[in-house]
Amino acid sequence: MTIRVGIAGLGTVGGGVLKVLAADAAHLAARAGRKDVKVVAVSARDKAKNRGVDLTSIAWEDNPIALASRSDVDVVVELVGGSEGTARELVSTALSNGKHVVTANKALLAYHGPELAAMAEKANVALKFEAAVCGGIPIVKALREGLIAYEISSLRGILNGTCNYILTEMEATGRAFNEVLGEAQRLGYAEADPTLDVGGGDTAHKLALLASLAFGTLPDIDAVDVSGIQNISPADIAFAAEFGYRIKLLGIAKRTSDGIEQRVHPAMVRARTPLAAVESSFNAVEVKAGEAGPFLFQGRGAGEGPTASAVVADIVDVARGAVSPAFGRPVAELKKPEKVMREGRISAYYLRFQVLDVPGVMASVSQHLADEGVSIDSMLQRGRSPGEAVSIVMLTHEAPHIAVERALKAIAASDKVFETPCMIPMETA
Ligand SMILES: NC(=O)c1ccc[n+]([C@@H]2O[C@H](COP(=O)([O-])OP(=O)(O)OC[C@H]3O[C@@H](n4cnc5c(N)ncnc54)[C@H](OP(=O)(O)O)[C@@H]3O)[C@@H](O)[C@H]2O)c1
Repeated sequence: MTIRVGIAGLGTVGGGVLKVLAADAAHLAARAGRKDVKVVAVSARDKAKNRGVDLTSIAWEDNPIALASRSDVDVVVELVGGSEGTARELVSTALSNGKHVVTANKALLAYHGPELAAMAEKANVALKFEAAVCGGIPIVKALREGLIAYEISSLRGILNGTCNYILTEMEATGRAFNEVLGEAQRLGYAEADPTLDVGGGDTAHKLALLASLAFGTLPDIDAVDVSGIQNISPADIAFAAEFGYRIKLLGIAKRTSDGIEQRVHPAMVRARTPLAAVESSFNAVEVKAGEAGPFLFQGRGAGEGPTASAVVADIVDVARGAVSPAFGRPVAELKKPEKVMREGRISAYYLRFQVLDVPGVMASVSQHLADEGVSIDSMLQRGRSPGEAVSIVMLTHEAPHIAVERALKAIAASDKVFETPCMIPMETA
């Protein structure tokens, strides 16, 4: 039997899916055990736009929601984007009409995943989203299926290619964040509004989905503690290198005694480790699962080809009849995650202070840290400019976040300290 596909959104990803399905239909049908995998209807905003594929034999819907009600569509592929509006209405209508859904939309699932997964379960149809996390890397399937027999203790990953590109360029060229971001926007690597990427929100969306698959939590963006890369300076990147580290924006989810901790923040990662070696727009996820791990998944996290291939893999899965709960367990079994607060987290930290180079400043900084029980592992001061601002950089031993934060507040209150001190957790484990 032919599996009949309706695609909403024919942009970067949707256009790529059209091309793959047009070029490889016979091969994919054979892999799916079907007579054909056929696109029967599509929708986008501009009917006149050239999509690089002949659409004359494919029905066009001006309103994408109409795809959800067509009797000749078995699978609705949502590639419009956005957590509300068209995408949400299309997916929920399709599921309630008993259609399978494939989407690449992490924002939609991070905010409405449980409700949509429940609708899919009720209708006994598939809701698949491999392309939503790390584009071409099959991490969703790995967590939902391949690693099912392991108890996962933690996962951490570089989940946003734009941030990794910016940090890699800052390191390679010594340029400031804003300069590299501007260039990334001109080259089309960063959105005109980069807030969701550089502020860590996009990483948080993906992390909430990965945590759900790995730990059986409800995807819940409010349970993720998020900070972005906007305040990372070239000086921090250079100092990190001197200490043998690289700065990466990580999404981290792990079992703790307080629950499943989910956080997104810039972190010091030891140089010459697999995660540190992930450069430019590449993504990677490291999964720790008992004696079998760690597993490292690495590849292209975005772009037409990789993302389209993940969408097509989901379509083929659906064509094979793979219907299972979207997040690996029935929604009723998923647990609401508590937000594990950063205050109690124990970590070593990288600290940088801009201080006036006068006698006694270093002693005062060290004393404030000692007062909070924070001990220093190593320290360096670059250059000497009596009467001017210099950087003091320290790596601490493990200490509670709240203690380090209190010490920094006291240090920042001094008139000999300029700028807010920089504090970056070390991800050494
Ligand atoms: N790009 C990537 O590398 C990547 C990677 C992973 C996941 N994703 C996810 O994939 C999804 C699609 O991303 P994309 O990069 O392909 O976006 P895109 O290039 O902006 O394409 C969006 C498509 O949706 C259509 N569209 C927008 N609003 C519409 C509406 N109201 N009615 C009908 N069609 C509408 C647009 O039509 P027109 O073409 O006529 O304007 C366009 O074809 C998003 O959820 C994104 O987060 C993207």
